[in-house]
Parts: sequence; structure tokens; C-alpha cells
Amino acid sequence: MDCKWFWVLLVMMLVSLGKGCWEEERTALLQLKHFFTDPFGNLYNWVENSECCRWEMVECDNITGKVIKLDLFFTRDEILGEWYLNASLFSPFQQLQSLNLSGNNIAGCIENKGFERLSRLSYLEELNLGGNNFNNSILSSLASISSLKHLDLSYNRFKGVVNIEGLYSLKNLKELDMSGNEIDQFVNFKGLSNLEIMDLSYNNFNNSILSSLGGLSLLKSLYLEDIGLNGTIDIQGLQSLKKLEELHMGCNRIDKFVNSKDYRGLKKLNVLSLSSIETTNASVVLQSMLRSFPFLKTLDLSSIDFNEIVIPRELHNLTTLEELILDGSKLDISFLQTVATSTSLKHLLMSGCELNGISQVQGPINFKNLESLFMNGTTFNNSFRQIIRPIATLKKLSLQNCGLNGTLHDQG
Ligand SMILES: *[C@@H]1O[C@H](CO)[C@@H](O)[C@H](O)[C@H]1NC(C)=O
Ligand SMILES: *[C@@H]1O[C@H](CO)[C@@H](O)[C@H](O)[C@H]1NC(C)=O
Ligand SMILES: *[C@@H]1O[C@H](CO)[C@@H](O)[C@H](O)[C@H]1NC(C)=O
Ligand SMILES: *[C@@H]1O[C@H](CO)[C@@H](O)[C@H](O)[C@H]1NC(C)=O
Ligand SMILES: *[C@@H]1O[C@H](CO)[C@@H](O)[C@H](O)[C@H]1NC(C)=O
Ligand SMILES: *[C@@H]1O[C@H](CO)[C@@H](O)[C@H](O)[C@H]1NC(C)=O
Ligand SMILES: *[C@@H]1O[C@H](CO)[C@@H](O)[C@H](O)[C@H]1NC(C)=O
Ligand SMILES: *[C@@H]1O[C@H](CO)[C@@H](O)[C@H](O)[C@H]1NC(C)=O
Ligand SMILES: *[C@@H]1O[C@H](CO)[C@@H](O)[C@H](O)[C@H]1NC(C)=O
Ligand SMILES: *[C@@H]1O[C@H](CO)[C@@H](O)[C@H](O)[C@H]1NC(C)=O
Ligand SMILES: *[C@@H]1O[C@H](CO)[C@@H](O)[C@H](O)[C@H]1NC(C)=O
Repeated sequence: MDCKWFWVLLVMMLVSLGKGCWEEERTALLQLKHFFTDPFGNLYNWVENSECCRWEMVECDNITGKVIKLDLFFTRDEILGEWYLNASLFSPFQQLQSLNLSGNNIAGCIENKGFERLSRLSYLEELNLGGNNFNNSILSSLASISSLKHLDLSYNRFKGVVNIEGLYSLKNLKELDMSGNEIDQFVNFKGLSNLEIMDLSYNNFNNSILSSLGGLSLLKSLYLEDIGLNGTIDIQGLQSLKKLEELHMGCNRIDKFVNSKDYRGLKKLNVLSLSSIETTNASVVLQSMLRSFPFLKTLDLSSIDFNEIVIPRELHNLTTLEELILDGSKLDISFLQTVATSTSLKHLLMSGCELNGISQVQGPINFKNLESLFMNGTTFNNSFRQIIRPIATLKKLSLQNCGLNGTLHDQG
């Protein structure tokens, strides 16, 4: 055998044997086990004298044998109630990249043992503290983990006015989830300038939040579902979010979108969700939405009542729209007739719709370039063939539970 190959094989063997688990890390893991009481038995193989890289919920680097990922979500008995964490317990894991502590009833950290203790974990990129009882006071201690890219603080006890300044030093932070808290207002918001994904859904904001988001100039995805938006929504404040691709505003009360004359539209915004919004006049919201967000590719209008609306003219020239989601909405067949004229529309999802006006329909609807049509649970009672003309471009069709009876003839 070629000498070179011998060495390659030898090196590969050594690597595959691995360094195994490091003693100090095994000790630190066993120490953690005292606090994570493990109600679901996930830590069953965390026992002395075994290879800790093989333990459940632990992931090591294949080459160095150092712990890089710890998944300790829902790992403490609920019945033990709130408790305070000693973050120093994690400081031995110098190569740690991802730490998941969600769902553990943690109320905070013990004095002087907060997350500032993790400032030397320079590889820590992902920290999930969701579903705990942390409050506003925790933010400043997170500031020292400067390597963080993804931070999940959802469903904790953040409340009222939250000063986000503590997170400014997280220059690498790309994703922040603060959904499911009771936040009314942010102060000092401009500093999170590298954020790409932010979730603020299920909080107690109001319309004024929109004007305070302007500094997040690299933002790509913004989730604002059920945040107390109400009435006329001025989207001028979003104008500076030039990279915004996705905006979710469902479960709010939206009557109308407005913007100023110099508004040019968010050119990159191609996904908009208004699922389950409440509104006084769906025509008005639809019309103003189409004007405010003219470059959409995916539009989610599920669970909205579009009965008896005046079809806005703007609906005729949806020139970019490829996917329209109308699941669970109420609409008249004329709405579909209008949408069908779009040449860009490829995917139409309308499961569980209440489709009215079928009996008044004159001729079949001509969809132009539709590739998939999902209508399960939308009642047609046998009129499908009279209404929808066979679509040559169609690749996927779902018509379960549509109240159809008999044979659908394959017409090509
Ligand atoms: C380490 O091992 C895991 C599976 O054991 C594998 O999925 C991963 O690609 C490996 N990583 C490297 C860098 O070899
Ligand atoms: C916190 O954990 C560290 C590391 O295990 C330990 O040295 C220290 O005594 C602990 N502090 C308290 C107050 O429990
Ligand atoms: C952390 O655990 C939660 C709960 O199981 C899970 O939803 C989440 O995706 C995990 N996050 C990471 C970063 O692993
Ligand atoms: C916030 O949590 C800390 C413990 O980390 C606690 O001392 C403080 O009382 C809490 N503040 C509120 C308003 O609940
Ligand atoms: C909206 O929230 C801000 C900050 O909490 C508050 O100052 C303002 O009064 C609220 N506006 C309305 C109309 O409730
Ligand atoms: C929305 O605002 C109107 C007044 O503009 C008010 O009557 C209504 O209660 C508000 N709704 C919600 C859910 O806050
Ligand atoms: C809704 O608004 C449209 C104008 O876009 C108007 O023609 C229509 O009468 C309004 N409907 C109701 C119920 O107010
Ligand atoms: C939309 O169609 C109307 C006519 O129905 C036309 O006047 C208008 O210029 C079109 N707008 C765009 C953006 O194509
Ligand atoms: C439609 O089908 C999907 C997937 O099969 C299912 O999840 C959904 O509940 C169905 N909806 C209705 C209204 O039947
Ligand atoms: C079709 O459904 C409508 C209500 O959606 C109902 O009024 C009508 O009687 C049904 N027609 C048949 C033939 O079942
Ligand atoms: C299907 O149609 C036939 C007659 O065409 C009728 O006898 C039968 O009851 C119908 N079944 C259902 C489930 O509507």
C-alpha cells in the first residue's frame, strides 16, 4: 500500500476513535444533572464513567470531543416550581455553540451568577431561554455573550416598557424572538441594527410600534401577529426596512393601511400574512393592502370574511402574486373569478372555505397558469365541473370533502 494512504488511514482511525469526552466536561454535566431533574428521562444515560459525547441531549465536536450543543429543554420537574439558575454551571463548556434551556421554569439567575458568566464562551451562537419566567432585568446580563446570533426569549415575563439597550453589544445578533410576553413598548430600539429576523407577536403593543422599528435596516422577517394593532395602520415607519421580505400581521384589527405620498413600497417584501385579521370593511383593507404592498408573491388571507365585499380594482392586476392562501375564509365566487385572471398565480390554497354565490355563476372560471389547487373541505356540492374549467397547467389538485358526488371526468 502506498505510504501516503497508510498515514491517511491512521489519521482517520485516530479521529474516529476520537478524543472522547473530556473529564472536566463530564464532571460539569453530572453537576448539571442535580438541577435538571429530568422528568421525561432524557438524561437516562448520563452516568459516571461513560463516554459523555454519547449521552442524550449532548453533542460533541467529532474532532476535539468538546461539547458543542446542550439540549436541556423541559428537563426540570414543573412541580418544583420556579428556581434561579447558576449560569457558571455552563462556563466549563468552552466550545459550546448552542444551549437550549427552554421550558424549565427558570425565574432568573442567582446573584453574581448571571449570563455575564458566559462571556468567555466565544462560540456560543444560539441561546434558547423560551418558556421560562425571566423578566426585563435579565437583558443586561445577556449583553456580554457577544457571539450570540440567535436569541429566544419567547413566552417569558417581559412586561411593560422594555429597555432593549442591554442587547446593543450583541453585534452578531441576527434573530430575536420576544413573542408571547406582555411588552407595551420598547425604548432605545435603534441599536439592533444587524437583526434579520424578529418576532414580537403576542405582546401588548399598539400601532405606535411600527414607527419605532425603522432602525432595523437589515431586517428580513418581521412577525407582528396579535400585537394590538387597531384601526388605520400607517406603514410609513416600515419604509426604511429596505431588505424586508416577510411581514406577518395576522390576528390584529386592521381597517386600512395608509402611507405618505413619497412611499415607494417595500420592493423586497414578497410574503405578507394578514391571516385572521378583524376588519370593518374587508374591501377597504384589501384595496389599501394591494396599494401598500404591490410586489407580493405570497399573500395569506386565511380566515377572513370577504363576503359582500366590493372587489377592488387592484385585485385585477396582481402581476407578481404566485401563491394565495384563503384557507377558512368566506368569499363569493366572483372573488375567485377576479383572482383567476392573474397570469402569475400558481398556487391557490382554499381549504375549508365558505364559497358563496355558486348558483349565480354564469360560466366556468378560467385559471391561467395554476399549478396547484387545494380545496379540501370547501363545499361545491357537485357544481365543480360547471365552475372550474380543466386547467392544463395543474399538477396538484385536492378536492377531499368538497361534497362532490359521482365521477369527475378527466378532461385532460
Ligand atoms: C460529526 O458526526 C455527525 C454524526 O455522528 C455527522 O452528522 C457530522 O457530519 C460529523 N461532523 C463532522 C465535522 O465530521
Ligand atoms: C455556581 O456554580 C459554580 C460552578 O459549578 C460553583 O463553583 C459555584 O459555587 C456555584 N455558586 C453557587 C452560589 O451555587
Ligand atoms: C429548543 O427546544 C424547544 C422545545 O423543544 C424547541 O422548540 C426549539 O426548537 C429548540 N431550539 C433549539 C435552538 O434547539
Ligand atoms: C425580575 O426578576 C428578578 C430575578 O431575576 C427579581 O428579583 C425581580 O423582582 C423581578 N422583577 C419583577 C418586576 O418581577
Ligand atoms: C400606544 O402605546 C404607547 C406606548 O405604550 C402609549 O404611550 C400610547 O398612549 C399608546 N397609544 C394608544 C392609542 O393607546
Ligand atoms: C380599537 O379602537 C377603537 C377606537 O378607535 C376602540 O373602540 C376599540 O375598543 C379598539 N379595539 C381594540 C381591540 O383595542
Ligand atoms: C366598504 O367600502 C367600499 C369602498 O371600498 C364601499 O363601496 C362599501 O360600501 C363599503 N361597505 C360597507 C359595508 O360599508
Ligand atoms: C392596474 O389596472 C388598472 C386598470 O384596471 C390600471 O389602470 C393600473 O395602471 C394597473 N396598475 C398596475 C400597477 O399595473
Ligand atoms: C385539508 O387537508 C389537509 C391535509 O390533508 C388537512 O390538514 C386539513 O385539515 C384539511 N382541511 C379541511 C378543511 O378539511
Ligand atoms: C349547495 O349548497 C348550498 C349552500 O352552500 C345549498 O343552498 C344548496 O341547496 C346546495 N345544493 C345542492 C344541490 O345540494
Ligand atoms: C350521490 O348521487 C346519487 C345520485 O346521483 C345519490 O343517489 C346519492 O345519494 C348521492 N350521495 C351523496 C353522498 O350525496
